[in-house]
Amino acid sequence: MKRTWDMRNDNFMKVFKYYKSNKPKPSLEAVISVDNTNFSNEVKIISQVVKDDLRAKSLGLEDVSKWEIFSSNNNPGFIIIKNPFTNLGQRYWMRKCLEEYPRKPHKRNIDIDKPVDDWWAECFKSGVCDRKLQKKLRWTTLGYHHNWDTKVYSEENKTAFPLELAELCDVVARTLGYSTFKAEAAIVNYYHMDSTLSAHTDHSEVNLEAPLFSFSFGQSAILLLGGHDKSVKPTAFLLSSGDIAVMSKEARLCYHAVPKILPASIHHWNNKDMTCSSNLGVEFKYIVEDDLIKEMNKNLNMEEWSKFNTYVEESRININVRQVLNENQNSLNDQSI
Ligand code: OGA
Ligand code: MN
Repeated sequence: MKRTWDMRNDNFMKVFKYYKSNKPKPSLEAVISVDNTNFSNEVKIISQVVKDDLRAKSLGLEDVSKWEIFSSNNNPGFIIIKNPFTNLGQRYWMRKCLEEYPRKPHKRNIDIDKPVDDWWAECFKSGVCDRKLQKKLRWTTLGYHHNWDTKVYSEENKTAFPLELAELCDVVARTLGYSTFKAEAAIVNYYHMDSTLSAHTDHSEVNLEAPLFSFSFGQSAILLLGGHDKSVKPTAFLLSSGDIAVMSKEARLCYHAVPKILPASIHHWNNKDMTCSSNLGVEFKYIVEDDLIKEMNKNLNMEEWSKFNTYVEESRININVRQVLNENQNSLNDQSI
């Protein structure tokens, strides 16, 4: 019987269930923290292809030359950049994901149930936080909107991709040598402490060669990464706030899942930080630097920041960015490739 055979060989599911379990609690000993020397056989440090990018600072990133970039020995093509963000940078991106990205015209899971224009503002309309509404948001899509039923992107289901996020991805992609990467679609996932994301591959994009960039903020997560089918036993990685996971090359189409959210051990985003200032004369591709810096510095004010802080103290946010089109393609209707 095929079904029995499938179940018996679903090593991915076995590991998923192991880490998801609350009773008994799983051992976290085998979960790879890339910067822990216990795992020096599992990962290796790789170097930046582009060593400097003057846009980094204003986007809330440390100097590119300081980034620690790890590649997995067991899962070729899987890369983790260990939190390259400044503390203020983390605050900026968390706030974007809460205050701005879940606003119309971006698409959200709450559109069916409660199609409010501005979810974050609505949560605070009465003066106190509507925790019930706050917990309802599970995802927002940007750019080419992921269609959860058909899994097909279309020109009719697309809105402008946020320019600052496109700029951030451009810096990260170039640093790793992906100079032609274009951020065209993103899913922002909002996880509560008991949320999970089941095993899947991301294969809806026309371009399956371009890497996938995944940003983690707030509480930590276990990410399982397996192979091209679910018989492959997955490896468990710890993703902490600020980490950037990249699924490139052989890892691009591999099964992955999030079986567990874990409390963050360090809350970098609440540590002191300095004012972000301009790098006069630096050219940006998509944005005006002054606006970015102004917004970045707003979160130095702890009173401004505190509402967002309350959210991320018990949630994880993941921004999952993809290129949809092939390099010379201008739209999904353009078949000349
Ligand atoms: C996704 C995804 C992983 C994560 O959105 O497709 O795989 O770390 N997210 O939340
Ligand atoms: Mn995915």
